[in-house]
Amino acid sequence: MTSWGPGLVLSKPNPFKKYSLYYGPMKPPILIKDQKGIWIPTKIWPNSMAGLKETVAPKAGLIFRWPKGETRDAYALLGTFTIPDGNNNYLAWLQVEQVAHPLGKSRTCESCHDSTTQVSQVTWEYFDNQGAESFTGSQKVIADQEGLRIVDIKATSEIKLREGGKTENFAAWMKLGDIWKTSGDFSIPKSDPAKYQKLDRGIREALAKLAAEDKQLKAREAKGEDVKKLRRRWKEAKAGVVHEPASANILLDVLK
Ligand code: HEC
Repeated sequence: MTSWGPGLVLSKPNPFKKYSLYYGPMKPPILIKDQKGIWIPTKIWPNSMAGLKETVAPKAGLIFRWPKGETRDAYALLGTFTIPDGNNNYLAWLQVEQVAHPLGKSRTCESCHDSTTQVSQVTWEYFDNQGAESFTGSQKVIADQEGLRIVDIKATSEIKLREGGKTENFAAWMKLGDIWKTSGDFSIPKSDPAKYQKLDRGIREALAKLAAEDKQLKAREAKGEDVKKLRRRWKEAKAGVVHEPASANILLDVLK
């Protein structure tokens, strides 16, 4: 999360100190459609900035920073909010940033398709030399047919204020509540069960075939045979199967 509020900047009082250091993982990424309707993985986090003079009206849905597609980062403008005795107004928005393709085990079909609702778990740690000593917290990001929202933001360890520290400055989320939400359809579409099963079966069969080939390659490697070229093709085929089952068929028969 990121929170702007009164604090010290270069040792001087400043209304716009950035209390930016709520850091932690968000798992899994939330999928959204980009400007062209292509699904991309994103991380999504709440922002608030205190002390805005005007009031700002919210806008429903996501706004892409670069409509022509130079980047695929977006935000949701949630408008301004007030809290009793706060640094009103608080301008709030949701940051939606494309994340990189991770290298590792691919996700299972079910992790996306078991439910049309996407749920992502976030844990974080606050770390700043102003406001409070380090503390931990968590929240969830939910994307479904109703919209996109952050829920259950909470501290999970004690907050010990530093000298002059005020929660309305560095942790306005404690009082703002569940304001980080926008409307729209952010659900994973329900796929046709027949199509799903056909694809699922095709991929399982392809993966089984690749596993058998892997065994054979390993056996040949163990005998001292140079199978580097075949191994490279095998890796391409495996990547292909996971990403694009139809095109992988061309590559699949590594050992023929
Ligand atoms: C990272 C999330 C994710 C994973 C993992 C995933 N899918 Fe999908 N799948 C989607 C999304 C999003 C769509 C909707 C695409 C669109 O806009 O049409 C989709 C669409 C589909 C469709 C419908 C396609 C159509 O033309 O109607 C089928 C079938 C499908 N997935 C099967 C699978 C199978 C089988 C797997 C596992 C091998 C899988 N998916 C893994 C997110 C995922």
